[in-house]
Amino acid sequence: MNRDAATALASTPARPPRAEHDARTIFEVSRPGRRGVSVPAPGVPCRGIDTLLPPWARRRTPPRLPEVGELQLVRHYTRLSRRNFSIDTHFYPLGSCTMKYNPRVNEQVAAEPGFAHLHPYQPPEQTQGALELMWRLERMLATITGLHAISLQPAAGAHGELTGLLCIRAYHRARGDEHRLRVLIPDSAHGTNPASVSTCGMHAVAVRTGADGRIELADLESKLDENTAALMVTNPNTLGLFETQLPEVCERVHAAGGLVYMDGANLNAILGLVRPGRLGIDVMHLNLHKTFSTPHGGGGPGSGPIAVTSALEPYLPVPRVVRREDGRFELSSDFPHSIGRVKAFLGHAAMFWRAYTYLRAHGAHDLVQIARHAVLNANYVLARLRPHYDLPYPGPCMHEVVFSARRQKRLGVSALDIAKLLLDAGFHPPTIYFPLIVPEALMIEPTETESRETIDAFCDAMIAIARLAETDPERAHEAPVTTPVGRIDEVAAARRPVLRWQPGE
Ligand SMILES: Cc1ncc(COP(=O)(O)O)c(C=O)c1O
Repeated sequence: MNRDAATALASTPARPPRAEHDARTIFEVSRPGRRGVSVPAPGVPCRGIDTLLPPWARRRTPPRLPEVGELQLVRHYTRLSRRNFSIDTHFYPLGSCTMKYNPRVNEQVAAEPGFAHLHPYQPPEQTQGALELMWRLERMLATITGLHAISLQPAAGAHGELTGLLCIRAYHRARGDEHRLRVLIPDSAHGTNPASVSTCGMHAVAVRTGADGRIELADLESKLDENTAALMVTNPNTLGLFETQLPEVCERVHAAGGLVYMDGANLNAILGLVRPGRLGIDVMHLNLHKTFSTPHGGGGPGSGPIAVTSALEPYLPVPRVVRREDGRFELSSDFPHSIGRVKAFLGHAAMFWRAYTYLRAHGAHDLVQIARHAVLNANYVLARLRPHYDLPYPGPCMHEVVFSARRQKRLGVSALDIAKLLLDAGFHPPTIYFPLIVPEALMIEPTETESRETIDAFCDAMIAIARLAETDPERAHEAPVTTPVGRIDEVAAARRPVLRWQPGE
Protein backbone atom coordinates (compact mmCIF):
# COMPACT_ATOMS: atom_id res chain seq x y z
CA MET A 1 0.00 0.00 0.00
CA ASN A 2 1.22 3.46 -0.81
CA ARG A 3 2.30 5.06 2.44
CA ASP A 4 0.90 8.52 1.72
CA ALA A 5 -2.59 7.29 0.90
CA ALA A 6 -2.59 4.90 3.84
CA THR A 7 -1.43 7.58 6.28
CA ALA A 8 -3.94 10.07 4.98
CA LEU A 9 -6.81 7.69 5.54
CA ALA A 10 -5.59 5.97 8.70
CA SER A 11 -6.30 8.77 11.14
CA THR A 12 -9.55 10.59 11.78
CA PRO A 13 -8.29 14.11 12.26
CA ALA A 14 -10.65 16.63 13.71
CA ARG A 15 -11.01 19.49 11.28
CA PRO A 16 -7.79 21.47 11.78
CA PRO A 17 -8.41 24.99 13.04
CA ARG A 18 -8.41 27.32 10.07
CA ALA A 19 -6.60 30.60 10.31
CA GLU A 20 -9.23 33.33 10.40
CA HIS A 21 -7.49 35.36 7.71
CA ASP A 22 -7.69 32.38 5.39
CA ALA A 23 -11.44 32.65 5.09
CA ARG A 24 -11.73 36.38 4.55
CA THR A 25 -12.98 37.83 1.29
CA ILE A 26 -11.01 40.56 -0.45
CA PHE A 27 -13.67 43.02 0.80
CA GLU A 28 -12.93 42.12 4.43
CA VAL A 29 -9.21 42.62 3.84
CA SER A 30 -9.97 46.10 2.47
CA ARG A 31 -9.04 49.25 4.47
CA PRO A 32 -10.06 52.76 3.40
CA GLY A 33 -7.34 54.56 1.48
CA ARG A 34 -5.03 51.56 1.06
CA ARG A 35 -3.61 51.30 -2.44
CA GLY A 36 -1.44 48.99 -4.55
CA VAL A 37 -0.46 51.67 -7.03
CA SER A 38 -0.44 55.45 -6.94
CA VAL A 39 -1.43 56.92 -10.26
CA PRO A 40 0.21 60.32 -10.82
CA ALA A 41 -2.04 63.22 -11.72
CA PRO A 42 -2.26 63.54 -15.50
CA GLY A 43 0.06 66.12 -17.01
CA VAL A 44 -2.43 67.13 -19.67
CA PRO A 45 -5.75 68.86 -19.15
CA CYS A 46 -8.37 66.22 -18.56
CA ARG A 47 -11.86 66.82 -19.73
CA GLY A 48 -14.08 65.21 -17.13
CA ILE A 49 -16.18 62.17 -17.77
CA ASP A 50 -19.18 64.43 -17.23
CA THR A 51 -18.71 65.73 -20.75
CA LEU A 52 -18.86 62.23 -22.17
CA LEU A 53 -21.66 60.63 -20.17
CA PRO A 54 -25.20 62.00 -19.83
CA PRO A 55 -26.14 62.82 -16.21
CA TRP A 56 -28.50 59.87 -15.81
CA ALA A 57 -25.69 57.44 -16.66
CA ARG A 58 -23.24 58.81 -14.05
CA ARG A 59 -22.69 57.17 -10.63
CA ARG A 60 -23.68 59.17 -7.60
CA THR A 61 -21.44 57.26 -5.22
CA PRO A 62 -18.09 55.61 -5.97
CA PRO A 63 -18.18 51.80 -6.41
CA ARG A 64 -17.37 49.82 -3.26
CA LEU A 65 -14.17 48.34 -4.60
CA PRO A 66 -11.75 46.68 -2.19
CA GLU A 67 -8.88 48.92 -1.13
CA VAL A 68 -5.75 46.85 -0.59
CA GLY A 69 -1.98 47.02 -0.93
CA GLU A 70 -0.13 44.99 -3.53
CA LEU A 71 1.25 42.48 -1.02
CA GLN A 72 -2.17 41.81 0.50
CA LEU A 73 -3.59 41.39 -2.95
CA VAL A 74 -0.90 38.93 -4.01
CA ARG A 75 -1.24 36.94 -0.77
CA HIS A 76 -4.99 36.84 -0.99
CA TYR A 77 -5.15 35.45 -4.51
CA THR A 78 -2.16 33.15 -4.09
CA ARG A 79 -3.88 31.69 -1.01
CA LEU A 80 -7.10 31.23 -2.95
CA SER A 81 -5.27 29.56 -5.85
CA ARG A 82 -3.78 27.03 -3.41
CA ARG A 83 -7.20 25.99 -2.17
CA ASN A 84 -7.94 24.38 -5.53
CA PHE A 85 -7.15 21.01 -7.00
CA SER A 86 -5.62 21.30 -10.46
CA ILE A 87 -3.73 19.13 -12.92
CA ASP A 88 -0.54 20.96 -11.98
CA THR A 89 -0.94 20.03 -8.33
CA HIS A 90 -2.96 16.81 -8.12
CA PHE A 91 -3.91 13.60 -9.93
CA TYR A 92 -7.21 14.45 -11.59
CA PRO A 93 -8.96 11.32 -12.92
CA LEU A 94 -12.20 13.11 -13.79
CA GLY A 95 -13.85 10.66 -16.18
CA SER A 96 -14.95 11.97 -19.59
CA CYS A 97 -12.90 15.15 -19.08
CA THR A 98 -9.41 13.94 -20.04
CA MET A 99 -7.63 16.09 -17.49
CA LYS A 100 -4.18 15.42 -18.82
CA TYR A 101 -1.05 17.51 -18.52
CA ASN A 102 -0.93 20.55 -20.80
CA PRO A 103 2.71 20.73 -21.95
CA ARG A 104 4.34 24.08 -21.26
CA VAL A 105 5.79 24.27 -24.75
CA ASN A 106 2.20 24.83 -25.97
CA GLU A 107 2.02 27.90 -23.75
CA GLN A 108 5.37 29.16 -24.94
CA VAL A 109 4.24 29.03 -28.56
CA ALA A 110 0.83 30.59 -27.82
CA ALA A 111 2.65 33.44 -26.04
CA GLU A 112 4.90 34.20 -29.04
CA PRO A 113 4.27 37.87 -29.86
CA GLY A 114 3.46 36.98 -33.48
CA PHE A 115 0.45 35.04 -32.20
CA ALA A 116 -0.37 36.73 -28.91
CA HIS A 117 -0.43 40.25 -30.36
CA LEU A 118 -2.55 39.45 -33.39
CA HIS A 119 -5.78 41.33 -33.68
CA PRO A 120 -8.75 39.59 -35.27
CA TYR A 121 -9.45 42.65 -37.41
CA GLN A 122 -6.02 42.55 -39.05
CA PRO A 123 -6.36 41.93 -42.79
CA PRO A 124 -5.24 38.56 -44.25
CA GLU A 125 -2.15 40.09 -45.85
CA GLN A 126 -0.82 40.74 -42.32
CA THR A 127 -1.85 37.37 -40.87
CA GLN A 128 -0.61 34.85 -43.43
CA GLY A 129 1.28 32.83 -40.80
CA ALA A 130 -1.74 32.47 -38.53
CA LEU A 131 -4.03 31.57 -41.42
CA GLU A 132 -1.56 29.02 -42.69
CA LEU A 133 -1.33 27.44 -39.27
CA MET A 134 -5.13 27.15 -39.07
CA TRP A 135 -5.23 25.66 -42.55
CA ARG A 136 -2.53 23.15 -41.62
CA LEU A 137 -4.28 22.27 -38.36
CA GLU A 138 -7.47 21.63 -40.34
CA ARG A 139 -5.57 19.29 -42.68
CA MET A 140 -4.06 17.42 -39.72
CA LEU A 141 -7.44 17.01 -38.05
CA ALA A 142 -8.95 15.82 -41.34
CA THR A 143 -6.24 13.15 -41.56
CA ILE A 144 -6.72 12.12 -37.94
CA THR A 145 -10.51 11.88 -38.25
CA GLY A 146 -10.53 10.36 -41.75
CA LEU A 147 -13.06 13.01 -42.77
CA HIS A 148 -13.04 15.53 -45.56
CA ALA A 149 -13.25 19.04 -44.11
CA ILE A 150 -12.95 20.85 -40.78
CA SER A 151 -14.38 23.92 -39.11
CA LEU A 152 -12.32 25.29 -36.23
CA GLN A 153 -15.01 27.78 -35.20
CA PRO A 154 -16.93 26.00 -32.40
CA ALA A 155 -15.91 27.16 -28.93
CA ALA A 156 -16.26 23.83 -27.09
CA GLY A 157 -17.50 20.26 -27.47
CA ALA A 158 -21.14 21.17 -26.91
CA HIS A 159 -20.85 24.00 -29.41
CA GLY A 160 -19.35 21.56 -31.92
CA GLU A 161 -22.37 19.32 -31.37
CA LEU A 162 -24.71 22.21 -32.12
CA THR A 163 -22.72 23.20 -35.22
CA GLY A 164 -22.63 19.61 -36.52
CA LEU A 165 -26.37 19.19 -35.93
CA LEU A 166 -27.08 22.46 -37.73
CA CYS A 167 -25.12 21.09 -40.72
CA ILE A 168 -27.17 17.88 -40.56
CA ARG A 169 -30.38 19.88 -40.46
CA ALA A 170 -29.29 22.01 -43.41
CA TYR A 171 -28.40 18.83 -45.33
CA HIS A 172 -31.88 17.33 -44.82
CA ARG A 173 -33.54 20.63 -45.59
CA ALA A 174 -31.65 20.92 -48.90
CA ARG A 175 -33.02 17.50 -49.84
CA GLY A 176 -36.59 18.49 -49.00
CA ASP A 177 -36.50 16.38 -45.82
CA GLU A 178 -37.62 19.16 -43.43
CA HIS A 179 -39.49 16.61 -41.35
CA ARG A 180 -36.37 14.70 -40.31
CA LEU A 181 -36.11 16.05 -36.79
CA ARG A 182 -35.58 12.97 -34.61
CA VAL A 183 -32.09 12.34 -33.30
CA LEU A 184 -31.44 8.97 -31.68
CA ILE A 185 -29.03 9.05 -28.73
CA PRO A 186 -27.85 6.13 -26.57
CA ASP A 187 -28.98 6.42 -22.94
CA SER A 188 -25.33 6.46 -21.79
CA ALA A 189 -24.66 9.76 -23.61
CA HIS A 190 -23.26 12.95 -22.16
CA GLY A 191 -26.02 15.45 -21.28
CA THR A 192 -24.78 17.92 -23.84
CA ASN A 193 -25.94 15.57 -26.65
CA PRO A 194 -29.70 15.81 -26.02
CA ALA A 195 -29.29 19.46 -24.99
CA SER A 196 -27.66 20.30 -28.35
CA VAL A 197 -30.43 18.45 -30.17
CA SER A 198 -33.10 20.53 -28.40
CA THR A 199 -31.17 23.76 -28.94
CA CYS A 200 -31.11 22.94 -32.64
CA GLY A 201 -34.90 22.55 -32.72
CA MET A 202 -34.85 18.76 -33.08
CA HIS A 203 -36.06 15.98 -30.75
CA ALA A 204 -33.88 13.53 -28.84
CA VAL A 205 -34.97 9.88 -28.65
CA ALA A 206 -33.13 7.53 -26.28
CA VAL A 207 -31.69 4.24 -27.52
CA ARG A 208 -31.02 1.50 -24.96
CA THR A 209 -27.58 0.27 -24.03
CA GLY A 210 -27.18 -3.51 -24.18
CA ALA A 211 -25.68 -5.77 -21.50
CA ASP A 212 -22.27 -5.40 -23.15
CA GLY A 213 -22.37 -1.61 -22.68
CA ARG A 214 -22.86 -0.85 -26.37
CA ILE A 215 -25.83 0.32 -28.48
CA GLU A 216 -28.61 -2.29 -28.45
CA LEU A 217 -29.06 -2.89 -32.19
CA ALA A 218 -32.64 -4.16 -31.97
CA ASP A 219 -33.74 -1.06 -30.06
CA LEU A 220 -31.95 1.20 -32.55
CA GLU A 221 -33.60 -0.60 -35.47
CA SER A 222 -37.05 -0.23 -33.93
CA LYS A 223 -36.59 3.55 -33.59
CA LEU A 224 -35.26 4.32 -37.07
CA ASP A 225 -37.91 5.76 -39.37
CA GLU A 226 -38.54 8.37 -42.06
CA ASN A 227 -38.32 11.13 -39.44
CA THR A 228 -34.83 10.16 -38.31
CA ALA A 229 -32.35 12.97 -38.88
CA ALA A 230 -29.38 11.30 -37.22
CA LEU A 231 -27.91 8.98 -34.68
CA MET A 232 -25.61 10.74 -32.21
CA VAL A 233 -23.16 8.25 -30.80
CA THR A 234 -20.15 8.74 -28.54
CA ASN A 235 -17.17 6.56 -29.41
CA PRO A 236 -15.51 5.31 -27.29
CA ASN A 237 -18.71 5.70 -25.32
CA THR A 238 -19.11 7.13 -21.85
CA LEU A 239 -18.81 3.65 -20.34
CA GLY A 240 -15.26 3.68 -21.68
CA LEU A 241 -16.11 1.06 -24.32
CA PHE A 242 -15.48 1.03 -28.05
CA GLU A 243 -18.69 0.80 -30.11
CA THR A 244 -17.51 -2.28 -31.99
CA GLN A 245 -20.63 -2.46 -34.16
CA LEU A 246 -20.36 1.11 -35.42
CA PRO A 247 -19.88 0.24 -39.14
CA GLU A 248 -23.06 -1.85 -39.05
CA VAL A 249 -24.87 0.82 -37.03
CA CYS A 250 -23.88 3.46 -39.62
CA GLU A 251 -25.15 1.28 -42.45
CA ARG A 252 -28.54 0.90 -40.78
CA VAL A 253 -28.89 4.60 -40.04
CA HIS A 254 -27.90 5.51 -43.61
CA ALA A 255 -30.35 2.95 -45.00
CA ALA A 256 -33.08 4.79 -43.10
CA GLY A 257 -31.98 8.11 -44.64
CA GLY A 258 -30.32 9.43 -41.47
CA LEU A 259 -26.75 10.60 -40.82
CA VAL A 260 -24.37 9.63 -38.04
CA TYR A 261 -22.91 12.21 -35.65
CA MET A 262 -20.00 10.94 -33.58
CA ASP A 263 -19.29 12.68 -30.30
CA GLY A 264 -15.51 12.58 -30.48
CA ALA A 265 -14.82 14.03 -27.05
CA ASN A 266 -13.15 10.71 -26.18
CA LEU A 267 -10.83 10.67 -29.17
CA ASN A 268 -7.84 10.50 -26.81
CA ALA A 269 -8.41 6.74 -26.60
CA ILE A 270 -8.11 6.08 -30.34
CA LEU A 271 -5.94 8.94 -31.54
CA GLY A 272 -3.90 7.78 -34.53
CA LEU A 273 -5.27 4.25 -34.20
CA VAL A 274 -8.78 4.63 -35.61
CA ARG A 275 -9.98 7.10 -38.22
CA PRO A 276 -13.64 7.53 -37.32
CA GLY A 277 -14.53 8.52 -40.90
CA ARG A 278 -13.59 5.01 -41.98
CA LEU A 279 -16.24 3.59 -39.64
CA GLY A 280 -18.93 5.30 -41.71
CA ILE A 281 -19.75 8.38 -39.64
CA ASP A 282 -20.68 11.68 -41.30
CA VAL A 283 -19.70 14.32 -38.77
CA MET A 284 -17.91 14.50 -35.43
CA HIS A 285 -16.47 17.03 -33.05
CA LEU A 286 -13.13 16.97 -31.32
CA ASN A 287 -12.30 18.59 -28.02
CA LEU A 288 -8.96 20.35 -28.45
CA HIS A 289 -9.09 21.02 -24.70
CA LYS A 290 -8.97 17.30 -24.03
CA THR A 291 -7.28 15.25 -26.73
CA PHE A 292 -4.94 17.98 -27.90
CA SER A 293 -3.88 19.21 -24.47
CA THR A 294 -5.18 22.77 -24.55
CA PRO A 295 -6.37 24.03 -21.15
CA HIS A 296 -9.85 23.34 -19.76
CA GLY A 297 -12.36 25.44 -17.91
CA GLY A 298 -10.85 28.34 -16.01
CA GLY A 299 -7.62 27.87 -17.94
CA GLY A 300 -9.52 27.72 -21.24
CA PRO A 301 -11.42 28.74 -23.24
CA GLY A 302 -12.04 25.45 -25.02
CA SER A 303 -12.29 24.58 -28.66
CA GLY A 304 -14.52 22.00 -30.35
CA PRO A 305 -13.78 21.79 -34.10
CA ILE A 306 -16.02 19.63 -36.26
CA ALA A 307 -15.00 17.29 -39.06
CA VAL A 308 -17.43 16.38 -41.86
CA THR A 309 -17.76 14.29 -45.02
CA SER A 310 -17.72 15.96 -48.44
CA ALA A 311 -21.54 15.73 -48.50
CA LEU A 312 -21.74 18.00 -45.43
CA GLU A 313 -18.89 20.35 -46.32
CA PRO A 314 -21.09 22.93 -48.13
CA TYR A 315 -22.88 23.63 -44.82
CA LEU A 316 -19.80 24.37 -42.70
CA PRO A 317 -19.68 27.76 -40.93
CA VAL A 318 -18.10 30.75 -42.66
CA PRO A 319 -15.73 32.45 -43.01
CA ARG A 320 -13.37 29.63 -43.92
CA VAL A 321 -9.62 29.73 -44.42
CA VAL A 322 -8.81 28.87 -48.03
CA ARG A 323 -5.53 28.49 -49.85
CA ARG A 324 -5.34 30.23 -53.19
CA GLU A 325 -3.56 28.78 -56.17
CA ASP A 326 -0.56 31.04 -55.55
CA GLY A 327 -0.18 29.54 -52.07
CA ARG A 328 -1.50 32.59 -50.20
CA PHE A 329 -4.28 32.25 -47.63
CA GLU A 330 -7.49 34.20 -47.35
CA LEU A 331 -10.83 34.15 -45.59
CA SER A 332 -13.80 33.27 -47.74
CA SER A 333 -17.53 33.42 -47.07
CA ASP A 334 -18.31 32.33 -50.60
CA PHE A 335 -20.16 29.20 -49.53
CA PRO A 336 -23.83 29.84 -50.34
CA HIS A 337 -25.18 26.82 -48.43
CA SER A 338 -23.25 27.56 -45.23
CA ILE A 339 -25.13 27.60 -41.92
CA GLY A 340 -23.39 30.96 -41.34
CA ARG A 341 -21.14 32.09 -38.56
CA VAL A 342 -21.27 30.28 -35.20
CA LYS A 343 -18.53 32.18 -33.36
CA ALA A 344 -16.96 35.60 -33.36
CA PHE A 345 -14.04 35.82 -35.75
CA LEU A 346 -12.52 32.37 -36.40
CA GLY A 347 -12.92 30.71 -33.01
CA HIS A 348 -10.54 30.49 -30.06
CA ALA A 349 -7.30 30.99 -31.94
CA ALA A 350 -4.91 30.50 -28.99
CA MET A 351 -6.23 26.93 -28.72
CA PHE A 352 -5.24 26.33 -32.33
CA TRP A 353 -1.64 27.38 -31.71
CA ARG A 354 -1.47 25.05 -28.72
CA ALA A 355 -3.08 22.06 -30.46
CA TYR A 356 -0.85 22.53 -33.51
CA THR A 357 2.23 22.63 -31.28
CA TYR A 358 1.09 19.48 -29.50
CA LEU A 359 0.61 17.65 -32.81
CA ARG A 360 3.94 18.79 -34.20
CA ALA A 361 5.78 18.05 -30.96
CA HIS A 362 4.56 14.45 -31.02
CA GLY A 363 4.53 13.57 -34.72
CA ALA A 364 2.52 10.69 -36.15
CA HIS A 365 4.40 7.97 -34.28
CA ASP A 366 4.00 9.41 -30.81
CA LEU A 367 0.34 10.29 -31.29
CA VAL A 368 -0.33 6.57 -31.34
CA GLN A 369 1.53 6.22 -28.06
CA ILE A 370 -0.82 8.74 -26.47
CA ALA A 371 -3.83 6.53 -27.10
CA ARG A 372 -1.99 3.31 -26.22
CA HIS A 373 -0.83 4.65 -22.86
CA ALA A 374 -4.23 6.17 -22.06
CA VAL A 375 -5.86 2.78 -22.63
CA LEU A 376 -3.13 0.90 -20.78
CA ASN A 377 -3.43 3.15 -17.74
CA ALA A 378 -7.22 2.81 -17.59
CA ASN A 379 -7.00 -0.97 -17.85
CA TYR A 380 -4.37 -1.01 -15.12
CA VAL A 381 -6.84 0.81 -12.83
CA LEU A 382 -9.55 -1.64 -13.90
CA ALA A 383 -7.38 -4.63 -13.00
CA ARG A 384 -6.34 -3.24 -9.60
CA LEU A 385 -9.77 -2.07 -8.47
CA ARG A 386 -11.95 -4.84 -9.90
CA PRO A 387 -11.74 -7.03 -6.74
CA HIS A 388 -12.91 -4.08 -4.61
CA TYR A 389 -15.61 -2.33 -6.68
CA ASP A 390 -18.39 -3.65 -8.95
CA LEU A 391 -17.75 -3.43 -12.68
CA PRO A 392 -21.22 -3.17 -14.27
CA TYR A 393 -20.04 -3.63 -17.85
CA PRO A 394 -17.22 -6.06 -18.62
CA GLY A 395 -13.84 -4.75 -19.80
CA PRO A 396 -11.33 -4.40 -21.18
CA CYS A 397 -11.98 -0.69 -21.36
CA MET A 398 -10.59 2.10 -23.49
CA HIS A 399 -9.43 5.37 -21.91
CA GLU A 400 -11.63 5.23 -18.81
CA VAL A 401 -13.21 2.67 -16.54
CA VAL A 402 -16.63 2.98 -14.93
CA PHE A 403 -17.15 1.19 -11.60
CA SER A 404 -20.24 1.16 -9.44
CA ALA A 405 -20.05 1.81 -5.70
CA ARG A 406 -23.33 -0.05 -5.09
CA ARG A 407 -21.50 -2.61 -2.90
CA GLN A 408 -20.15 0.21 -0.71
CA LYS A 409 -23.53 1.99 -0.80
CA ARG A 410 -25.14 -1.04 0.84
CA LEU A 411 -22.64 -0.56 3.67
CA GLY A 412 -23.60 3.10 3.97
CA VAL A 413 -20.83 4.66 1.85
CA SER A 414 -22.00 6.34 -1.35
CA ALA A 415 -20.09 7.40 -4.47
CA LEU A 416 -20.24 10.95 -3.07
CA ASP A 417 -18.63 9.81 0.21
CA ILE A 418 -15.87 8.09 -1.77
CA ALA A 419 -15.25 11.29 -3.74
CA LYS A 420 -14.92 13.27 -0.49
CA LEU A 421 -12.59 10.68 1.07
CA LEU A 422 -10.36 10.90 -1.99
CA LEU A 423 -9.94 14.63 -1.40
CA ASP A 424 -8.53 13.83 2.04
CA ALA A 425 -6.15 11.35 0.42
CA GLY A 426 -4.90 14.12 -1.90
CA PHE A 427 -6.64 13.17 -5.15
CA HIS A 428 -9.21 14.97 -7.23
CA PRO A 429 -12.20 12.60 -7.32
CA PRO A 430 -13.35 10.81 -10.44
CA THR A 431 -16.63 11.80 -12.09
CA ILE A 432 -19.50 10.43 -10.02
CA TYR A 433 -23.12 9.56 -10.82
CA PHE A 434 -22.42 9.63 -14.56
CA PRO A 435 -23.18 7.86 -16.88
CA LEU A 436 -26.72 7.90 -15.56
CA ILE A 437 -27.31 4.22 -16.38
CA VAL A 438 -24.73 3.13 -13.78
CA PRO A 439 -25.93 3.32 -10.16
CA GLU A 440 -23.38 4.99 -7.85
CA ALA A 441 -21.09 5.49 -10.85
CA LEU A 442 -17.37 6.13 -10.39
CA MET A 443 -15.94 7.11 -13.77
CA ILE A 444 -12.16 7.04 -13.65
CA GLU A 445 -9.97 8.42 -16.45
CA PRO A 446 -6.30 8.36 -15.46
CA THR A 447 -5.01 9.68 -18.85
CA GLU A 448 -1.68 8.82 -20.41
CA THR A 449 0.33 11.52 -18.69
CA GLU A 450 0.32 9.97 -15.20
CA SER A 451 3.13 7.80 -13.87
CA ARG A 452 2.60 4.29 -12.58
CA GLU A 453 3.50 5.47 -9.05
CA THR A 454 0.75 8.10 -9.10
CA ILE A 455 -1.83 5.66 -10.44
CA ASP A 456 -0.76 3.10 -7.84
CA ALA A 457 -1.13 5.68 -5.07
CA PHE A 458 -4.66 6.46 -6.28
CA CYS A 459 -5.59 2.77 -6.48
CA ASP A 460 -4.18 2.25 -2.96
CA ALA A 461 -6.41 5.06 -1.71
CA MET A 462 -9.45 3.57 -3.46
CA ILE A 463 -8.72 0.16 -1.92
CA ALA A 464 -8.26 1.73 1.52
CA ILE A 465 -11.62 3.44 1.08
CA ALA A 466 -13.30 0.16 0.12
CA ARG A 467 -11.90 -1.32 3.37
CA LEU A 468 -13.03 1.68 5.37
CA ALA A 469 -16.55 1.16 4.02
CA GLU A 470 -16.50 -2.31 5.56
CA THR A 471 -14.96 -1.33 8.89
CA ASP A 472 -15.97 2.24 9.70
CA PRO A 473 -18.59 3.57 7.26
CA GLU A 474 -19.56 6.42 9.63
CA ARG A 475 -16.17 8.04 9.14
CA ALA A 476 -16.83 8.42 5.45
CA HIS A 477 -19.63 10.88 6.18
CA GLU A 478 -17.25 13.32 7.86
CA ALA A 479 -14.94 13.65 4.85
CA PRO A 480 -13.37 15.85 3.66
CA VAL A 481 -11.59 17.06 6.79
CA THR A 482 -8.38 18.36 5.23
CA THR A 483 -9.81 20.77 2.67
CA PRO A 484 -10.46 24.49 3.31
CA VAL A 485 -14.20 23.86 3.05
CA GLY A 486 -15.69 20.73 4.57
CA ARG A 487 -18.82 18.80 3.59
CA ILE A 488 -21.47 21.28 2.61
CA ASP A 489 -25.14 20.94 3.46
CA GLU A 490 -26.36 20.17 -0.05
CA VAL A 491 -30.04 20.46 0.81
CA ALA A 492 -29.52 23.91 2.33
CA ALA A 493 -27.35 24.92 -0.64
CA ALA A 494 -30.18 24.01 -3.01
CA ARG A 495 -33.09 25.34 -0.94
CA ARG A 496 -31.51 28.43 0.64
CA PRO A 497 -28.61 29.36 -1.61
CA VAL A 498 -26.49 32.29 -0.47
CA LEU A 499 -25.43 33.81 -3.74
CA ARG A 500 -24.09 37.18 -2.63
CA TRP A 501 -21.60 38.19 0.03
CA GLN A 502 -22.89 40.99 2.25
CA PRO A 503 -20.71 43.17 4.48
CA GLY A 504 -20.82 42.01 8.09
CA GLU A 505 -21.83 38.41 7.30
C1 LIG B 1 -18.54 12.68 -24.07
C2 LIG B 1 -18.62 14.18 -24.03
N1 LIG B 1 -19.32 14.84 -24.95
C3 LIG B 1 -19.41 16.18 -24.96
C4 LIG B 1 -18.80 16.94 -23.99
C5 LIG B 1 -18.96 18.44 -24.02
O1 LIG B 1 -17.74 19.08 -24.22
P1 LIG B 1 -17.51 20.59 -23.68
O2 LIG B 1 -17.44 20.49 -22.19
O3 LIG B 1 -16.23 21.01 -24.30
O4 LIG B 1 -18.67 21.40 -24.15
C6 LIG B 1 -18.09 16.30 -22.99
C7 LIG B 1 -17.46 17.10 -21.92
O5 LIG B 1 -16.99 16.66 -20.94
C8 LIG B 1 -17.98 14.89 -23.00
O6 LIG B 1 -17.29 14.26 -22.07
